[in-house]
Amino acid sequence: MPERLRGRLPDPTRNRLAGVPLRTRLVVASIVLLAVVCLVVGGVSLLLLRSYLLEQRDEQLAGAEQRAAAAYSHELEDRDDDEDIDENAVPDFLDAPGQAVGTLSARIVDGQVLQAGLLDPDGVPRRIGGAAAAALLAVPTDGEPYTLDIERVGDYRLIAEERPDDVVLVTGLPLDELDGIVGRLARVVGIVALAGLILTGVASAVLVRLSLRPLRRVAGTAVRVSRLRLDRGEVAVAERVPAGDTDPRTEVGQVGAALNRMIEHVAAALGARQASETQLRQFLADASHELRTPLAAIRGYAELAGRSTEPVPPDVAHALRRVSSQTERMTSLVEDMLLLARIDAGRPLAREPVDLSQLVVDAVSDAHAAGPDHRWTLALPGDAVTVVGDAARLGQVLANLLANARVHTPSGTTVRAELGKGSGEVMMAVLDDGPGIPAELLPRVFGRFARGDSSRSRAAGSTGLGLAIAHAVVVAHGGTISVDSVPGCTAFVVRLPADS
Ligand SMILES: Nc1ncnc2c1ncn2[C@@H]1O[C@H](COP(=O)(O)OP(=O)(O)OP(=O)(O)O)[C@@H](O)[C@H]1O
Ligand SMILES: [Mg+2]
Repeated sequence: MPERLRGRLPDPTRNRLAGVPLRTRLVVASIVLLAVVCLVVGGVSLLLLRSYLLEQRDEQLAGAEQRAAAAYSHELEDRDDDEDIDENAVPDFLDAPGQAVGTLSARIVDGQVLQAGLLDPDGVPRRIGGAAAAALLAVPTDGEPYTLDIERVGDYRLIAEERPDDVVLVTGLPLDELDGIVGRLARVVGIVALAGLILTGVASAVLVRLSLRPLRRVAGTAVRVSRLRLDRGEVAVAERVPAGDTDPRTEVGQVGAALNRMIEHVAAALGARQASETQLRQFLADASHELRTPLAAIRGYAELAGRSTEPVPPDVAHALRRVSSQTERMTSLVEDMLLLARIDAGRPLAREPVDLSQLVVDAVSDAHAAGPDHRWTLALPGDAVTVVGDAARLGQVLANLLANARVHTPSGTTVRAELGKGSGEVMMAVLDDGPGIPAELLPRVFGRFARGDSSRSRAAGSTGLGLAIAHAVVVAHGGTISVDSVPGCTAFVVRLPADS
């Protein structure tokens, strides 16, 4: 997409209704739909009724107009030509026989309303003057009915007709009754529609809730499956959508059945993964175990050959020393791999009271002996700190952390081992003021075979399993291990449950 168009086109992934529950959407949609239907049906009915009533009114108006015209003709015959028309009186033809209450009549001469009046509710003629009378001039004189809102008089249907003597007769009938009928019907329609809308709202809310119940059950199953830990170990996915919600004839049933199929597939895949992992672990454990014996033999023979009193050529003596040291390294690597394979296989650890204070003192003094060029300090609480666990493995955690602080830092580095007690947990920390762990290595430092590329590491023959073992042992004890490292300060902190 060209850059300049980006941002102008609508984003199809952006939905304004996102986050609105389906239940609310369905209820609101049904109410809105019904409201539109009510509005259209009500509006059309009212319009039809009004036009029908208006037609009736126009017929009545035509009758009234004829009666007024007839009365006017009589008046012309009876009146002397020079007789003046009284402008303060109502037109004589207003109360012609048969005229209904409310009928309006006016006489317009030379563009002026000379007389105007209407029959009030008691049938008594009443004069209309001023602006109300003047408004009648607006009615076209084409004999067609027009609607006019006359000031202080009300809505009227009016016909104006020019007589042969140039006098314009205006006749009108009120529309208030018609408006009243239409208004009353509009109110009734409105009330019925409102009641219908409320009823529909409640009924659709209940119906939608009932219809969505199976979907909620399916969603519940999906949520429970999503909460299972599927990433490691033996995973048994026992969750399934209930059989009643897997009927393929219904939409929800199709989702439920598909979800069940997916769970089956995932469970099968996890089972296969678990089987191959177990096989691999077993192979690793067996291989490591099998390697121990030949390695011990090689070491033994190398030592034996080294102790020989027979003169040995210097290059053979050097080769024997190399064999001895590489065998030692390989033995430790095989031991590490065997330990990791056993922890991975969930082999139970020993559960005995372990005096961590003693463990730390011993580990630091061993480290001191191995690295006399470093400065070793200790911070222990007054009371002995104990946990329940595997003393040998926990000792190995400490030894690995202290070995790292010795091997991966230059001489003269200060290393500090700390032991502390928190609420429900015990904290062991190993800190040093060495160069720190490279930033790119830090996130995966507890991974297997993760090691720095420094020449010191290579020289120390490191394998990158020390921290992986520490991590596995601590996790197997139900604890956590974390690291924080910047140049000048590296801190490994182990937290173990106090009763682990
Ligand atoms: N205290 C530390 N200071 C600097 N770097 C460290 C420290 N501890 C660990 N590291 C870095 O983390 C890497 C991984 O450590 P880990 O103990 O897992 O393996 P290793 O020490 O290289 O080998 P192994 O312990 O198996 O002999 C090390 O190679 C080193 O680069
Ligand atoms: Mg190490």
